[in-house]
Amino acid sequence: MSSSTLWPCVAIREASLAERTTMRVGGRVEWLLEPTTPDELAAANAAARDRGLRPRVLGGGANVVIDDGLLPGVVISTERLRRVFRPLAGEAGAESETLDAEVTPAAIAPPDPAQDPRLVVWCGATLPALLRAARDLGYSGLEGIVGVPGYVGGGVAMNAGGRWGEMWDVIESVRVIDEDGELRDLARDECTPSYRNANLGERIVVGAVLRFHPEPVLVIRERMRDYLVQKNAVQPVTEWSAGCVFKNPDPERSEGRSAGKLVDDCGGKGLERGEAIVSPLHGNFIVNRGKATAVDVFTLMEDVQDLVAQKTGIRLEFEVKRWRPSDPRE
Ligand code: EPU
Repeated sequence: MSSSTLWPCVAIREASLAERTTMRVGGRVEWLLEPTTPDELAAANAAARDRGLRPRVLGGGANVVIDDGLLPGVVISTERLRRVFRPLAGEAGAESETLDAEVTPAAIAPPDPAQDPRLVVWCGATLPALLRAARDLGYSGLEGIVGVPGYVGGGVAMNAGGRWGEMWDVIESVRVIDEDGELRDLARDECTPSYRNANLGERIVVGAVLRFHPEPVLVIRERMRDYLVQKNAVQPVTEWSAGCVFKNPDPERSEGRSAGKLVDDCGGKGLERGEAIVSPLHGNFIVNRGKATAVDVFTLMEDVQDLVAQKTGIRLEFEVKRWRPSDPRE
């Protein structure tokens, strides 16, 4: 592994990716770039494009399975873009007072956070850290995504969520790097987010302004705890996985059955390929038991998709992204 001054930010050659994902599989990438500010992120993207490369963006690696071997090109990691801010009065996303999501509520010392219940977040802030910051300020609106392990950028881009709510419930505007490489703010009504997809195309999410509504901290805390208890009871949260493998199908076609229920009904739980297994706890999770390869996981994903298609006629759509040299970028 070596660094380079060819890039406008920290750059690691042949960086290994498995430990940067929650599934813990995958090989290396030719170049991993680690910008520390939105401007550096835009510069890193531009530098890659100048070399004829279309970079992939990696946040918490919670919804991606990366191929074994060497991935050609560039991956931009948002790891170092972890900031969460409170906007100064009336200036969403503009000159902002810094607030680190990891600091204690006392250190935040807001005059009256309820007057302007908004947060400005950068793409590399973790969703758990964002939820903690919002909770401790008495900001409600995102409790429904408690337990989702990814980062803000991925959460916004794929509209992360579940049965209790989703990321775009609180989005006032997003800052993106547009197809032309420029930083641009998009208001909520300029966007068309849908189920598990913000439909932002090739744009890179840099950050967002989130609007919450004030509620007592204890109420928010209790709601989050309740959701988490329910989730932990039915999902393999402590094991290595990429979250739900499939999107839920159109309920009219599946008689209201979720993807996990369909896999379960078709006898898919416990199916294995190498060290990858369909979780015996929840049919929509594939778990790496320790030494799974990307091929084990990809093959098992397709086995399960085929099984459900054969038995029900429903071809489930992948929610998890696959990063193989041949895959189209999403
Ligand atoms: N079920 C079974 N067997 C299974 C799995 C589920 O019978 O193996 C039953 C459950 O008991 C429940 C029903 O199916 O009655 C629906 O539950 P399920 O967890 O399958 O679906 P969901 O509630 O629609 C969504 C998100 C989850 C998110 C939860 C909670 C999708 C595909 N799934 O699940 O998201 O955690 O809501 O908010 O949208 C993810 O995106 O990675 C993810 C796991």
